[in-house]
Amino acid sequence: MEEKFGVPRDPSYLIKALQNIQTKKGYIPFEDAVEVAEYLGVPLTRVFGVATFYEQFRLKPRGKYVIRVCQGTACHVKGSKTLLDFLRDFLGVDIGDTTEDGLFTIERVACLGACALAPAVEVNGTIYGKMDPDKLRELIIELKEAERNGEQKN
Ligand code: FES
Repeated sequence: MEEKFGVPRDPSYLIKALQNIQTKKGYIPFEDAVEVAEYLGVPLTRVFGVATFYEQFRLKPRGKYVIRVCQGTACHVKGSKTLLDFLRDFLGVDIGDTTEDGLFTIERVACLGACALAPAVEVNGTIYGKMDPDKLRELIIELKEAERNGEQKN
């Protein structure tokens, strides 16, 4: 029997199919969502309903460096909102969006589990504590330079 997206042709495999696409591509492209809907015989609105309901799914590609700014209580009281505002300004993209060069995505998270280091930011799994806009600027410039020199940071 024909199998696509790593699942049998059965509507109950919708979530699994979306997980497989995301694992492979990093997000769920529109065309894939349409194809999954056709393949599993479910309405496209249902596919998007599921994809937007679960936080694990992304409908847009992410940048090479995902900058996650903690907005938990400890970080919030230490001014993490300033970090978000700075990033939006400095990178020229909104939360959840990616810079045109495909390098940076800004995300907001509830708690990074590093409250003692508030305000904390995570970049591709590395935590940076006691951040302020200046340190964040330096970090981004450093990452850009590493990119230019062909080094992979984080
Ligand atoms: S609240 Fe920011 S790391 Fe916990």
